[in-house]
Amino acid sequence: MRNIIICVLAWGSHFTLNAQSVRSIVGAGKAINPYHYTVVKKGDFSKASVGSAHPLASMVGVAMMRKGGNAFDAAIATQLALAVVYPGAGNLGGGGFLLGRKANGELIGIDYREAAPEKAHRDMYLDKNGNAQLNLSQAGHLASGIPGTVAGLFATLPYAKLSFKELVQPAIDLAEKGFAITEREASSLNSTRESFIKNSTRPSALVKEGKWKAGDTLVQKELAATLKRMQKEGSRGFYEGETARLVVEEMQRGNGIISLDDLKNYTAKLRNPLEFEYRGYQVISFAPPSSGGILIAQMLKMIEKYPVGSYGFQTARSVQLMIEAERRAYADRAEFMGDPDFYKVPVKTLISDAYIEQRMSDYTPEKAGSSSTVRAGQIKESEETTHLSVMDEAGNMVAVTTTLNNGYGSRTVVGGAGFLLNNEMDDFSVKPGVPNMYGALGGEANAIVPGKRMLSSMTPTLLLKKNKPYVVVGTPGGTTIPTSVYQAIVNLVDFNMNADDAINKPKFHHQWLPDEVMVEADFDGETKKQLQSMGYKVTNRGGIGRTEIIRVLNNGKKETVADKRGDDSVAGFMP
Ligand code: GLY
Repeated sequence: MRNIIICVLAWGSHFTLNAQSVRSIVGAGKAINPYHYTVVKKGDFSKASVGSAHPLASMVGVAMMRKGGNAFDAAIATQLALAVVYPGAGNLGGGGFLLGRKANGELIGIDYREAAPEKAHRDMYLDKNGNAQLNLSQAGHLASGIPGTVAGLFATLPYAKLSFKELVQPAIDLAEKGFAITEREASSLNSTRESFIKNSTRPSALVKEGKWKAGDTLVQKELAATLKRMQKEGSRGFYEGETARLVVEEMQRGNGIISLDDLKNYTAKLRNPLEFEYRGYQVISFAPPSSGGILIAQMLKMIEKYPVGSYGFQTARSVQLMIEAERRAYADRAEFMGDPDFYKVPVKTLISDAYIEQRMSDYTPEKAGSSSTVRAGQIKESEETTHLSVMDEAGNMVAVTTTLNNGYGSRTVVGGAGFLLNNEMDDFSVKPGVPNMYGALGGEANAIVPGKRMLSSMTPTLLLKKNKPYVVVGTPGGTTIPTSVYQAIVNLVDFNMNADDAINKPKFHHQWLPDEVMVEADFDGETKKQLQSMGYKVTNRGGIGRTEIIRVLNNGKKETVADKRGDDSVAGFMP
């Protein structure tokens, strides 16, 4: 291969499969070795590149572009591969958003967010005393919305060049023949073991006798069979027939409510992307049912009139301004945002100059603002979801964020079909004033209604510079997603950082309630002290997000960087 790749973090471990032979999974001369591979954190590629949560998935995406596919082909194949090699968040049983810009400037927004089943109802997670039973919205069969991912993949297909048959083959091979798992995956599967056993009704490939360790081979025969049904029958191979029957039987063995009709009637929807300008850059992001696009538009516009760059990176002055923008935007999320097909989200007003001006009118430098405390939420740190960024030689840009909600979703593996179901119902407001697993609050706008899509924070985003492709970016992280994307953009635009620093520098997060600033461990100690003296409660937390970014450099190369916080890895190629 003539790839030029800079490997800044390579695994020490070698992943070698017993006696099994290693073969190409994507065709002669383009072998990807699923038992021995390396995490590659960044590279500058002149033709095309992919950044995703797993090296094998990124390599599969690039292999499809080498084969003549475009960025949409790569996005489909990478997602399918992630469903196999990154079971914590890559998925068939979840949902997501794809944001694309074709080289001719056409924008594409595909919403394949999960939807509430027909038997769902507003109070389904309340006990007889009206208390929220979050154990039911967060794990097990009842926590799942109708999966949207497979419909999303097929809705993307018209923009791709290769056949679905070709695009799904690497995922089938990875599931059928197996791949070596990373140390991080081994430890993650081990720590979720009891939860898989509790929430699944049949044995699953994700649970093994004894402990997983780095280099073990994960073979998923049932998942391979499901992928083959999709290869043969298209989306009906998932939403009808054998796979649908297995999902419904799984539901009936637990307390689930997804029916054959729910599956058959699910459709992905085209959404108009949300567009706005920030300091001369055109920003394109996802509209409701994601809150992400509105949130980053609000936060960026709230700080735009201030010379943030001159305040200095993560000085108390710049961070305080950015926090106050976060506080105000997240308060609006709780009140005004939900599925636009069920609730009129005042998008134009929320991002209008007059409204933004009014929202920041009570901003006081050097003094902490206050969130009127209704009920403080608690944030758990498992904020899985996953993002992939792709750009091809022609200039097609694709950003996909997809999720099961938290790590491994509902922890329910569909017996006989081998894929995990989401626990996305928790992203609805199960009861006004009761925080979900991310501490997010909601009310009427995000109440449960059959067929409605739960509010998301996923923020796949594109930036154009003088109307030309500039950046593809996005991240997992629950409610921290919009703040991660916001900070990546500010780091690029206001602090002139390269893509690596823009995503890997320490981050902070404020989401209105709980009224506190969460910071990563390597956040500047002096700035932290100054924020505390202004009146902020500052708490340390684990990593925020796992961002994948592609930025076009002045020489036309695609600076592609995978987040340092996981096994995230880039792949790409030169002529
Ligand atoms: N489940 C995470 C999100 O959609 O925001």
